Amino acid sequence: MTQRPTPVRSSTQQADDEGAKKPRILIVDDEPSMRDVLRIVLRRDGYDVVVAENGNQAIAILQQQPIDLLLSDIRMPDISGVEVLRTAKTVNRDIVAFMMTAFASTDTAVEAMRLGAVDYFTKPFSMDELRFKVRQHLEASRLRQENVLLKRALNTSYSFSNIIGRSEAMLGVFKMIETIARTSSTVLITGESGTGKDMVARAVHYNSLRRDHPFVALNCGAVPETLLESELFGHMRGAFTGADTNKKGLIEVAERGTIFLDEIGEMNATMQVKLLRVLQDRRYRRLGGTEEVEADIRIIAATNQDLPKLVTDGRFREDLFYRLNVIPIQLPPLRDRPEDIPLLAEHFLGKYATQMEKPVRTISHAAQELLTAYAWPGNVRELENAIERAVALEQTPAILPESLPAHLPSGPGSVPRPTSMAVTMSSDRAEGGLPDLGEGFDLEARGEEFYRHYIALALERAGGVQTKAAELLGMSFRSFRYYAKKFNIR
Ligand SMILES: Nc1ncnc2c1ncn2[C@@H]1O[C@H](COP(=O)(O)OP(=O)(O)OP(=O)(O)O)[C@@H](O)[C@H]1O
Ligand SMILES: [Mg+2]
Repeated sequence: MTQRPTPVRSSTQQADDEGAKKPRILIVDDEPSMRDVLRIVLRRDGYDVVVAENGNQAIAILQQQPIDLLLSDIRMPDISGVEVLRTAKTVNRDIVAFMMTAFASTDTAVEAMRLGAVDYFTKPFSMDELRFKVRQHLEASRLRQENVLLKRALNTSYSFSNIIGRSEAMLGVFKMIETIARTSSTVLITGESGTGKDMVARAVHYNSLRRDHPFVALNCGAVPETLLESELFGHMRGAFTGADTNKKGLIEVAERGTIFLDEIGEMNATMQVKLLRVLQDRRYRRLGGTEEVEADIRIIAATNQDLPKLVTDGRFREDLFYRLNVIPIQLPPLRDRPEDIPLLAEHFLGKYATQMEKPVRTISHAAQELLTAYAWPGNVRELENAIERAVALEQTPAILPESLPAHLPSGPGSVPRPTSMAVTMSSDRAEGGLPDLGEGFDLEARGEEFYRHYIALALERAGGVQTKAAELLGMSFRSFRYYAKKFNIR
């Protein structure tokens, strides 16, 4: 096994170490020998232990001091353990409760579970089993409480228009969005695929004075070059074959609002000139039209490419670059802001657990460590997919390492290796066709993995020559470049 380096620790972990408080356990049993054994064993395990000889005493204690875990006999001379449990739950809804019974009387045990006990032990029981379960449930309860605190923190300062982050870079982005809210300045958002460029573009619009007007997005890399001009500027009837009506362009649709030009680096030279014109004069001409139209729009552009480099290579106009780069917003890759990972993971956990109505509440420490140590080449999008998948697969209240994608444990700086992907795919096939559909299956994530794998493989076979790799895959060079960039494969 490879050695995993120490992961970045979350702030909640640090807080724990500083003020660690012993969990307090209340033992209730009318049998003195049972009380003694449990008290000795649990104290030795490091808990703060309180004992009661009967139900009334127990209720008095529960009302006086904070108890984290209740371990109560069911049959007692005065009042029953079930009554004790009922009181315990009214005092503290989150108390962890175990019942003990000398008789295998499932009826009362079931009633106790219905009232919120997590488990019951039939006497005589194994002390080791009890110790194990006590530890396990107290740990889960602690994680749940941490999660609540974390969510509270999120609501205060680590979230802006649903964008989550506590790293200095992200706090800077939030500040910038606020600062430019009252302006109409052009914004250029840069960052690797999956870093949140789309989200930031929307946040700029919805926090601006233009928020009541449309936000229109156009992916310049996805629209065929021949259609881009009419998409953007619209056309007049008869402008070209097939143009049998007048059509509004997106700039017109976005009037008084914002137009988001995604993948701006994909725009060809002719379109670059036309866009420059809009930026300079705020005027444009529809395709086939004679009159000039005024454009009252804010332009936000985004790219995952290195635009200055494209300028140097002569593939992007320098004047257009400067016109776009009025307010630059750079989104750092997730690997450069690991302190955002726990927050993001908790955020996605909450989102998907609610959406799928699954009782998954926390991320186990082991899983958390894997998440923070991984390099996330697909950035926040990849993290979101991983958590969504884990929530779908998880059968316990906490996400365990087993539910995370198999390529995660390989440590920092690592990216999923194409070879391991090939193994997964062929073994899927060996088991008889395609993998099982149903809960946890995610076609989009699978599809992305598949593309990622073959793009990397073809590039390797082609010795890094992109045109050759595209040919090997039977796709156009343009599509190839689009995907290679999207998945950040060089
Ligand atoms: N800081 C964040 N907080 C919450 N969710 C985020 C954050 N950043 C990204 N996401 C989520 O990750 C996914 C990818 O984000 P987005 O589409 O904005 O990335 P992008 O930079 O535009 O990627 P691409 O270059 O591939 O278009 C989305 O589902 C988005 O909701
Ligand atoms: Mg995007």
